[in-house]
Amino acid sequence: MPPHSQDFDLKAALSGLRAEQKRLTAISMRDLFAVDAQRFERFSLKLGDLLFDFSKNRIDADAMRKLLEMAARAGVEARRDAMFAGAEINATEGRAVLHTALRNRSVRPVMVGGADVMPDIRRVHAAMARFARAVRAGNYAVSGGKVTDVVNIGIGGSDLGPAMAARALSPYVDGPRLHFVSNVDGADIGDTLNRLDLATTLFIVASKTFTTAETMANASTARVAVERAAGKAHAARHFAALSTNLAATAKFGIPQDRTFGFWDWVGGRYSLWSAIGLSLMIGIGPRRFDELLDGAFQVDEHFRTAPLDRNIPVVMALLGIWHRNVWGYATHAVLPYDNRLARFPAYLQQLDMESNGKRVTLANRPATIATGPVVWGEPGTNGQHAFYQLIHQGTDVVPCDFLVAAEPHEKLGRHHAMLVANCLAQSEALMRGKTLAEAAAELSAAGMPERKVRVLAPHKTFPGNRPSNTFLYRKLTPATLGALIALYEHKVFVQGAIWNINSFDQWGVELGKVLASEIEPLLSGGSLERRDSSTAGLIAAYRRLRGK
Ligand code: F6P
Repeated sequence: MPPHSQDFDLKAALSGLRAEQKRLTAISMRDLFAVDAQRFERFSLKLGDLLFDFSKNRIDADAMRKLLEMAARAGVEARRDAMFAGAEINATEGRAVLHTALRNRSVRPVMVGGADVMPDIRRVHAAMARFARAVRAGNYAVSGGKVTDVVNIGIGGSDLGPAMAARALSPYVDGPRLHFVSNVDGADIGDTLNRLDLATTLFIVASKTFTTAETMANASTARVAVERAAGKAHAARHFAALSTNLAATAKFGIPQDRTFGFWDWVGGRYSLWSAIGLSLMIGIGPRRFDELLDGAFQVDEHFRTAPLDRNIPVVMALLGIWHRNVWGYATHAVLPYDNRLARFPAYLQQLDMESNGKRVTLANRPATIATGPVVWGEPGTNGQHAFYQLIHQGTDVVPCDFLVAAEPHEKLGRHHAMLVANCLAQSEALMRGKTLAEAAAELSAAGMPERKVRVLAPHKTFPGNRPSNTFLYRKLTPATLGALIALYEHKVFVQGAIWNINSFDQWGVELGKVLASEIEPLLSGGSLERRDSSTAGLIAAYRRLRGK
């Protein structure tokens, strides 16, 4: 990983930005719009059909210039180029980071350790497409005949990507029905098995490592159920595997021709584009899957070549740093006004929080400034009737991303106009707010006595000045989804580069896994001496409830 450029001092850059913040604290967003008729044009960017409006943030040209200077001085461009070139930028795991190669739709080679990885990528992609076509056409039959249902068994990056995308692209799913099992809670696999005809179900075991406890438990449970339903001799045909660990997939009993590999330079949370996308490909077909890759590739090219000030992921990242490190906002809400993007916030939680939830820098020292924010969200308009109260009037400021399509898949009267109007109204309300004087004037105009107005008006006041970005795209197609995901991937990358952290490892998930394996046998007995009193007390209470 190229280091931060020698002369780059993040703390100094942030303190320079704090001076801009101080200046901007005195100017409301209303005023920023009032004094600049071109504000929307100046603070929005386009990529194909996609419009990124970031004008409803508390920034101006001077603050933006300083943010861009920070990105340039931090060496973001050199790091980006190193990633695309296959350098070992995942330093703690000694790996390249090449999810971009998986959607490289050009003829450019991508070299890792002196070898071009593109032929291998194309080989696996072609094998996936052949298998997907065979399943969709009914040419790959299982014990009960044509496959009617596909269950992806995986967790984290081996679940969230295809599960989120299958829901987002449901209007394009014209193959077998898709299901996703991830949780080790037996309710997940139990409910899924109960509603399926196992004789016509294909299970895809998706795990980069093929050692993840939850996935292995769910896969074994599925295998027992299939063996019972179809007989041992026929059960193997009901399984396919997606993994980098081909020895383990073979040991599980999945033959090579139904095992689709990938590579250690594909991070779990960046793996939708790899074999991990197979369930989605079976659902929407290889051609639509390629459109997803095309959309991501378009963003990769933009990220690779656009100057920093016209570069959407760079600007997204800088605004995030502006909010996190300068204004001190700890969370970031993703609010799709697109019901099929219901799992997009959950997908971005892993992408962002597993990537940038880090407290040690690439210089192996504790991070002294805040890194990744808490990412959360739900689709609008549902969220409006749940948590938006806090976003509008709570004591914390929550920067928001709104996402909305110009064109719906359904032609159902007013629905889409209502949806879009709500989306735009929310960002306008957050930006404008309502002053005490305006609230009071409204109440008085409605005939309320002055004494009551004084009591009620503060409650009806909205501070405004609450930041948001809006993504407006033509329609939620596979290409649009690919582009949206890639924008956020690169945003996370740029932030990690500026914070000088490794966005591509995830050691923080390990400790809990180890402790779970120690605790599991203790649930049925044994000494609790080595546990703290809380954990020991909880285990003892559990044993009593289970009569152990
Ligand atoms: O525990 C976290 C994690 O390693 C994620 O990074 C990953 O996406 C998930 O588990 C699943 O891992 P695998 O694909 O190896 O089963």
